[in-house]
Amino acid sequence: MKTIIEPFKIKSVEPIRFTSKEERIKILKKAGCNPFLIHADDVLIDLLTDSGTSAMSAKQWAGIMEGDESYAGSRSFYRFEEIVKKITGLEFIIPTHQGRAAEKILFFNVGGAGKFIPNNTHFDTTRANIEFTGAEAVDLLNETGKKPEVKADFKGDMDVEKLEAFIKEKGAENIPLCMLTITNNSGGGQPVSMKNIREVKAVCKKYGIPFFLDACRFAENAYFIKKREKGYENKSVLQIAQEMFSYADGATMSAKKDALVNIGGFLAMNDPDLALKCRNLLIVTEGFPTYGGLAGRDLEAVAQGLEEVLDEHYLQYRIRSVEYLGEKLVAAGIPIIEPPGGHAIYLDAKRFLPDIPPEQFPGQSIVCQLYIEGGIRAVEIGSVMFGKYDKSGKLIPPPMELVRLAIPRRVYTQSHIDYVIEVIIEVFKNKNSMKGYKIIYEAPMLRHFTAKFEPIK
Ligand code: F0G
Repeated sequence: MKTIIEPFKIKSVEPIRFTSKEERIKILKKAGCNPFLIHADDVLIDLLTDSGTSAMSAKQWAGIMEGDESYAGSRSFYRFEEIVKKITGLEFIIPTHQGRAAEKILFFNVGGAGKFIPNNTHFDTTRANIEFTGAEAVDLLNETGKKPEVKADFKGDMDVEKLEAFIKEKGAENIPLCMLTITNNSGGGQPVSMKNIREVKAVCKKYGIPFFLDACRFAENAYFIKKREKGYENKSVLQIAQEMFSYADGATMSAKKDALVNIGGFLAMNDPDLALKCRNLLIVTEGFPTYGGLAGRDLEAVAQGLEEVLDEHYLQYRIRSVEYLGEKLVAAGIPIIEPPGGHAIYLDAKRFLPDIPPEQFPGQSIVCQLYIEGGIRAVEIGSVMFGKYDKSGKLIPPPMELVRLAIPRRVYTQSHIDYVIEVIIEVFKNKNSMKGYKIIYEAPMLRHFTAKFEPIK
């Protein structure tokens, strides 16, 4: 088999700024050893997120000029609505400025104290929007999905037996909807199988509970189904996506991922009463229902991006480039969540730095070293992001200590990724000289964004 190449030529380029190791040590110190506080211009390869960081195509940029900025009834909205309906088959399509705005509108209407929302694993903003209403967000991921070293095809699947037991325990009347996040970002970007989607839907149907997809990375999930699930090898990704959505009563979407744009999202559903309530709230918080917090040009770019993301040459390159990074790291003995996910590689900091305990934030130590060694920005997903304190002030660590290397779509070439591999291997070789970190400032909520750290002497 020949090399899988980037399925595009580059028409417009953006320079990246080189810094020396000495400069980076100073920059990191000034940023309190927190990469969120580094200026992006001081980053060489930015793997902080795959969200809103895609490179748009010439046709998307042309769409930016074509966008119709009418306040009501914009042509760009109808183009956007048409493609979203074609993919999802859902009846009511409500544009929002990004994924969390769709979540806020949805959960404001269905959440509240005493309610429970199950998911395979809630993404942080989904959890936050649910909990903000007083409802409880519950993760029911299958057990294999929690084991970084175990390879399996669909580690994003929900545990269907647990779901049914949970519904019986809490009462269907207290569960306004059930979600599946495809792919499961917080669990390593792992896909959910069509079988699991079907089974979750069946349980929801039995108890009269609406079933929603968190569809940010639906095309990547559909491609994994094509490659890994029997019976789907000859179907198009569009057909697979259409089948996935055919089981759903609704969806939330951050277009900043699989719609290949820098801003945008939507909420979609079949229930006319809920859609009416959501549109009413949309008007208060986002805007009129035919633009929902976006410019007409943004809707145009989303519509075009949704067509491009279904191109199988694109998806083959996308999934392969992440897998390539994962394979090379595994070959060098570096511990990652296996198999590689769709949008990111997750280093397993517990096995990478077994001598640094969770209280000294091994993931943060790796994140800092990647920046110092190679100007690479990654993000800690472990005790810094999800750690809580008990009454005595002792850290309660989450189950995993991870570092996420998220790959922006269509932005970096294979040589950028080869460079990333070299830097990680270099850091891994020198891991015995790496230190733990302590927090010297933290905010009461979502501390990872603004916390400051110091290496422990
Ligand atoms: N759901 C999932 C699964 C996500 O990954 C995200 C965002 C959202 C919802 C919220 O969407 O950012 O448009 O409001 N994930 C980004 C990330 C931020 O880096 O993983 P948003």
